[in-house]
Amino acid sequence: MNPDHPDIKYLFEPRAVAVIGASRDPAKIGHTILRNIIQAGYQGGIHPVNPHGGEILGLPVAKSVDEIEGELDLVCTCVPSRFAFDAVKSAADRGARFNLVITSGFSEVGNVEGERQITDYARQRGMRILGPNIFGMFSAASAIDATFGPGGIVPGHVAIITQSGALGLAMIGKTAVENIGISAMVSVGNKADLDEADLLRYLVDDEQTRTILMYIEGVRDGGRLIEALKGVTLRKPVVVIKSGRSQRGAMAAASHTGSLAGSDEIFDAVMRQCGVLRAESVAQAFNLCKFLSDAPRPRGGNTVIVTNGGGIGVLATDACEKYGVSLYDNQEQLRDVFGAVTPDFGSTKNPVDLTGGATAQHYADALAAGLQHDQIESVISLYCETAMFDAESLRGMIKENHQKYAAAGKPLVFSVFGGAMSEQAVATLSRERVPLFGDVYETVSCLGAMYAYERYRKNRSEHVDEVEIDDAAVEAIIQGARADHRSFLLAHEGQRLMQAIGVALPQSRVAHNLDEAVAFAEETGYPVVMKVVSRDILHKSDVGGVALDLENREEVVDAYQAILRNCRNRMPHARIQGIEVAEMVTSGVELIIGARRDPSFGPIVMFGLGGIYVEVLKDVTFRAVPTSRTDVLEMMKEIRAYPLLLGVRGEEPKDIDSVVDAVIRLATVIRRCEGITDIEINPLVVYEQGTGAKAVDARVLISGAEGGGSDA
Ligand code: COA
Repeated sequence: MNPDHPDIKYLFEPRAVAVIGASRDPAKIGHTILRNIIQAGYQGGIHPVNPHGGEILGLPVAKSVDEIEGELDLVCTCVPSRFAFDAVKSAADRGARFNLVITSGFSEVGNVEGERQITDYARQRGMRILGPNIFGMFSAASAIDATFGPGGIVPGHVAIITQSGALGLAMIGKTAVENIGISAMVSVGNKADLDEADLLRYLVDDEQTRTILMYIEGVRDGGRLIEALKGVTLRKPVVVIKSGRSQRGAMAAASHTGSLAGSDEIFDAVMRQCGVLRAESVAQAFNLCKFLSDAPRPRGGNTVIVTNGGGIGVLATDACEKYGVSLYDNQEQLRDVFGAVTPDFGSTKNPVDLTGGATAQHYADALAAGLQHDQIESVISLYCETAMFDAESLRGMIKENHQKYAAAGKPLVFSVFGGAMSEQAVATLSRERVPLFGDVYETVSCLGAMYAYERYRKNRSEHVDEVEIDDAAVEAIIQGARADHRSFLLAHEGQRLMQAIGVALPQSRVAHNLDEAVAFAEETGYPVVMKVVSRDILHKSDVGGVALDLENREEVVDAYQAILRNCRNRMPHARIQGIEVAEMVTSGVELIIGARRDPSFGPIVMFGLGGIYVEVLKDVTFRAVPTSRTDVLEMMKEIRAYPLLLGVRGEEPKDIDSVVDAVIRLATVIRRCEGITDIEINPLVVYEQGTGAKAVDARVLISGAEGGGSDA
């Protein structure tokens, strides 16, 4: 078996399994796992291993794995950490393919070396490790429950991959109660060897699995995860819950599994880029998984709300806007379809209001009308509890219509709000897998997630955009800074870098005497800006090293002398390389764009509203690299300030293409030039359509220099 491409099928569909550390003691984990494997109905060979031999749960016990004959695809290691290496070694030497190392006490408590030892040994021998520090794995494909969970997993269509053990174990019980069928449940723990990306390679092809739910605390090899996720979301939806959103949560996650939680904003954006749906809570994730596994896919976006209450209809309308569900708006058609089933004092405008007097029959008629109409592609049915229904007619109406819509392949979701009768309907029918919730937002969020996923599938593109840049020039600039023991570029080096990658700049040159300054200003054309160039002066304005809006020769002469005087007075020891004379940038929309190497996801680009308030407003978003022009445009639309680029209050639209181009140039350089760790252009001023964008200030950090410090 090639260790880099494990035949992952044998993890989920092992032909034989051994439990090292199987115990007679029902209180021990090694006993529970063996019992669960037997009770779930696994049909392959089951081999308990324990030095005492004998029999456990009716099975003969091997004193060591060497005594087991035939193929051994899976081993569960349930011995204390001090014995784990020997147990793993014996399984690897025996030629086992996969090893679920249940044992805790490794990198999560600082025992990185112990973890590395078992992983390295296993790898050398071609055995792959899941864990350590896991609760095991369930796979419906071979009816194997190799977990120490409560058992009773209902087989079905949702696969769960979880980094948290206790939460995963609890999910076993919860999914059983909620009647969520599971195709696979895998605990990844410390991810010392196999990680989510490996498991997704099996689940993408597994026909039982319709939806995948992942609980993630930290991502190590983001590049592999992105690739795997993009492959999966092409075919089936993935829902992710990521903890560590808050700063404290991120710290807790880091100490929990020893992984780097990373920036939540970046994680969020990258998941969107991969078409992954992010859930806020376990409850929401379960709702989404249930719905996405069972509900038919909509043919299009026209949704109709049917309600017996105006207020709840308005709430649902708000929720539709929040979750990206578009309401059917052809008023003529709506009147034709729903006119006959709506009282005169009701409304056929979407929401279709059947009014408080609506009975089960009124709902049945309205939903039948919606079902028959071709242009109506999904329906949200809302009910506020009234005396017009009894429990039976309510349940009957919901169930019957659910079945009719499912048979016709049209999504229908319900919200029922009220007293005991409503609560009971929600509890019982949702367990029968009817998409029915008490809260309107919960209801609409399911449909919204489905539409978000459909939109992603329709718009996704494998295309990658890169541009020509002058790699040799970039390399020379980096080498120059390194030779100077700097980990940052000086302003003029940053400008040369922009030229090398093709990002437009305001014209600028460094003058070394007054005559040069005047000559450069005349050539550039007034107004100009002048700034001191010195690696010793970080905050130029603070020492009087900047002069703006210089309109003529006299002002340039005065400013030149004033800058030198100010700097010499306030920072007498600063070495001054010259005075930069630059074109004064006229006003436009100030943006920020950047590129950096993220510890989890590797090269990424950033885009947002720029200027001095960027830290406060945080209106920025990200994409993993490589990316495409289409994707960059999508990313730009994610920020709140995007409408500024379309032109507001009679302003002309801005040159969006030139911004997309600048971002693609940063994406290209961060991917191609390893030496660059961080580029930030703030502001990138964008002008009217057709007139481009200019990088006014660029800060660039590089790796590999002995010196330190920040940009000048
Ligand atoms: N080969 C086979 N069996 C061995 C062995 C070996 N090399 N070394 C020890 N054993 C046997 C023991 O004799 C014992 O069997 P016995 O009851 O018949 O004596 C059995 O393995 C278990 O060993 P024991 O010392 O009793 O350990 P334990 O069951 O108390 O704990 C773990 C073992 C793995 C469960 C424990 O170390 C652990 O890591 N617990 C945390 C697990 C966890 O929470 N994981 C993460 C979940 S999210």
